[in-house]
Amino acid sequence: MINTVLSVDQLTQVVPIGQSDRTTTILKNISFKVQKGELVSIVGPSGSGKSTLLYSISRITRPTSGTVTIAGVNPYQLKPNQLAAFRRQIIGFIFQQYNLIQSLPVFENIVIQQRLSHQQPKRSEIEQLLTKLNFAGQIDGAVETLSGGEQQKVAIARTILTDCDVLFADEPTGALDSVSKSIIFTYFKEMVAKGKTVIMVTHDIELASQTDRAIVLKDGQVQQIVPEPSLEAIYAALDKVV
Ligand SMILES: Nc1ncnc2c1ncn2[C@@H]1O[C@H](COP(=O)(O)OP(=O)(O)OP(=O)(O)O)[C@@H](O)[C@H]1O
Ligand SMILES: [Mg+2]
Repeated sequence: MINTVLSVDQLTQVVPIGQSDRTTTILKNISFKVQKGELVSIVGPSGSGKSTLLYSISRITRPTSGTVTIAGVNPYQLKPNQLAAFRRQIIGFIFQQYNLIQSLPVFENIVIQQRLSHQQPKRSEIEQLLTKLNFAGQIDGAVETLSGGEQQKVAIARTILTDCDVLFADEPTGALDSVSKSIIFTYFKEMVAKGKTVIMVTHDIELASQTDRAIVLKDGQVQQIVPEPSLEAIYAALDKVV
């Protein structure tokens, strides 16, 4: 049975240029669907609109026009209390720039969502998760003392702890060594095998070639959607970009 979990229809994102009256179109007429249990990659050159697309389809930045449907609802039409529940229960987002609180310990960064919803964090569960993610830092150390790669793992742990149904990840392995990268990617594979859905922006074509489909962006438009992508097929689609 086909079970669409994300539907993006004619999405366009237009933003003002600085303080001027002029505008620029960052995303133009983007449409695609993602099925439950799929691992989809979004690839494209720097500045092609990958992060903007991920924000628009995950209820972070409202598109100028077009519609987004996640798990049967348009998240841009939810009331604030419904949206809070939707964010808590359905979606997760791993930011390209991590968005961690540098002065706080690793543990407190990871449990921040639980603290906000007055749940008691389980330290052993978080220790296990960090071990599984090959985290080499101190759980009680401040985030600012960690390397970029270890910070990225903290950002990943914080999001996947929420056990979301649909995970949006913006360059989640960008700062990782190859062993850690493989561990994180295997974790995503395990998630989709359990019926979760992962949409991942990546510069790593080798990684994208191991996903179910690659959406290739060029200048804010879908250049091609490559099913069961081989390395060659993605490079061929990207080649048309330059
Ligand atoms: N709020 C904004 N206002 C104006 N321009 C923006 C805004 N956000 C993004 N842009 C521009 O839109 C384009 C796409 O940016 P985006 O960050 O989505 O690209 P990206 O594909 O994620 O790049 P990278 O691979 O470097 O992360 C860029 O030219 C960027 O400068
Ligand atoms: Mg980006």
